[in-house]
Amino acid sequence: MRIVLVGPPGAGKGTQAAYLATNLSIPHISTGDLFRANMSQGTPLGEQAKQYMNAGELVPDEVTIGMAKDRLEEADAVEGFLLDGFPRNLNQAKALDEILLERGIALDAVLDLEVPEDEVVKRIAGRRTCRSNSAHTFHVEYKKPKVEGVCDECGGELYQREDDSEETVRRRLEVYHRETEPIIDYYQAQGLVVTISALGKVSEVTQRAMEALRQNA
Ligand code: AP5
Ligand code: ZN
Repeated sequence: MRIVLVGPPGAGKGTQAAYLATNLSIPHISTGDLFRANMSQGTPLGEQAKQYMNAGELVPDEVTIGMAKDRLEEADAVEGFLLDGFPRNLNQAKALDEILLERGIALDAVLDLEVPEDEVVKRIAGRRTCRSNSAHTFHVEYKKPKVEGVCDECGGELYQREDDSEETVRRRLEVYHRETEPIIDYYQAQGLVVTISALGKVSEVTQRAMEALRQNA
């Protein structure tokens, strides 16, 4: 299955993607995680992305589209994938269509996670992320690690992402409404959008998403 996951910052895309990718046996591809891995390794790509990410702005398309294309060409993504955080504007959505068209394949669904803004702010404020792998995320109230400050999955140190400050979150939400929301209409015109509420327990949202994909994808 080929799925794109959309939703505002803090909607729970990364959290859900981890469960959905396992359930569907497809790789979870997060452009945010790819950028953070490059940043922690100090690669030139990471250096380029850093200033934009820390300001809550989008990393330029020239950098992002190339990185996503390379990742989608890896062997594990041939049969399917769950894209999280890409595409993030209309230009990226059109580029993805071209990448897929060249390979003679198409998306099966665009899963849209709906969450009210006040909930998003609460989720981001309490989020703690693993330094060794930013796909490992926790929450001080909703998803507590067994040992405070330590990642359950790999023992890495938990920290608060630099772009999770209140000011930057506000900026990321603005960018989401302006740049990313229009892609929902774009995919709606292709009949691909499946919208679910992302409120409730993590496991309830996963169940809701699996059911919606079964019925609509
Ligand atoms: P990215 O990493 O993609 O960030 P984002 O889209 O802002 O999403 P988040 O990671 O903040 O949230 P999430 O929806 O994954 O929520 P999570 O599951 O962690 O991008 C970061 C930056 O990278 C961008 O600003 C940009 O600069 C750059 N970038 C990335 N892709 C790009 C692209 N394509 N083009 C250009 N630039 C790009 O959940 C949040 C918290 O809530 C966690 O603590 C979690 O434990 C908790 N939680 C989750 N579900 C629930 C629940 N049901 N109940 C209670 N708590 C919950
Ligand atoms: Zn970890």
